Amino acid sequence: MNILITGVAGFIGFHCATELIKLKKKYNVYGIDNLNDYYDVELKKDRLKLLQKNKNFNFYKLDITNKKKIEGVFKSKKISVVLNLAASAGVRYSLENPSTYLQNNINGFFNILELSTKYKINHLLFASSSSVYGDSKKFPLKEETDTSKPLSFYAASKKCNEVMAHSFANINNLPCTGLRFFTVYGEYGRPDMALFKFANSIIKNKKIELYNKGNHIRDFTYIDDVVNQIINLINKPSRKKIPFRIFNIASSKPVQLKKYLRLIEFNLNKKGKYKLIEKQPGDVYKTFASTKKIKKITNQNKVTKLQIGIERYIKWFKKYYF
Ligand SMILES: NC(=O)c1ccc[n+]([C@@H]2O[C@H](COP(=O)([O-])OP(=O)(O)OC[C@H]3O[C@@H](n4cnc5c(N)ncnc54)[C@H](O)[C@@H]3O)[C@@H](O)[C@H]2O)c1
Repeated sequence: MNILITGVAGFIGFHCATELIKLKKKYNVYGIDNLNDYYDVELKKDRLKLLQKNKNFNFYKLDITNKKKIEGVFKSKKISVVLNLAASAGVRYSLENPSTYLQNNINGFFNILELSTKYKINHLLFASSSSVYGDSKKFPLKEETDTSKPLSFYAASKKCNEVMAHSFANINNLPCTGLRFFTVYGEYGRPDMALFKFANSIIKNKKIELYNKGNHIRDFTYIDDVVNQIINLINKPSRKKIPFRIFNIASSKPVQLKKYLRLIEFNLNKKGKYKLIEKQPGDVYKTFASTKKIKKITNQNKVTKLQIGIERYIKWFKKYYF
């Protein structure tokens, strides 16, 4: 089976490709990424170097906003499954640069939808986000919970993706599955996310600015668990009249940011310095997902303990950066 992963040099894309490549008999993996410099391009290149050691992996430096170029890959490689992860991914950056999100997340995704329809893809899985729930107060967050009040343009772009995909599933019978990721962390993680920022600041004796005074609560989800669930879903497109589904991809174990910090300090064997600041616009206080729906479909319940995930990350972090 030929699978196309967009955003393959990114954090989640890299890990998905790594695991799919191992299933040699099952998958040929084709990856697209524009290698943009939103964060350290060297990290993206290092991820790619590891992927490119494998014969059943091919990379194309392309932008999903360039429909003509990516059509070439759909056409020549006989793609049957698409995993769309390419996007502008940070909430905070979307406060200053919303137009980038319009381009990559909405126009780019539109191209993926059109090409997936034209080349009769069996299954399009795409990244959404926990941020679509806005500041919903009814926990755990279920897939049916209201998502009509996004707090940032990033969240709005992800909600928009879900709605766009639903219309393509309805009109073109394109099987689509939306993946609402909840704060994914792990080795080769993004340097714009809390785990890297905290670990880096602690090691370098820099003060950490704690938004909302560290009282945020997040459903931290370890990368291996995310990849497992995505692989489980690949061959399970919806068979309904409108073949569309949405799943929370989460641990379902909410943790206060302060506890997360204590685990990082413990593994670095060093205390951090903190400056407590107010909540940022667009920030959500708490995320806590219900994962009942996906468990029913994949029969899987593997959740890596936060202690173990952080320990693995810090081990990698020290080796990679220092
Ligand atoms: N990591 C998380 O906790 C998390 C949470 C919720 C949702 N998501 C979503 O999951 C997806 C993957 O996230 P990630 O953490 O791996 O982010 P990432 O930034 O590491 O990966 C995204 C990759 O897409 C590439 N890209 C961006 N725009 C592109 C374009 N127009 N054409 C081609 N490539 C492009 C980037 O270069 C990057 O390598 C994103 O859609 C993100 O919004 C992630």
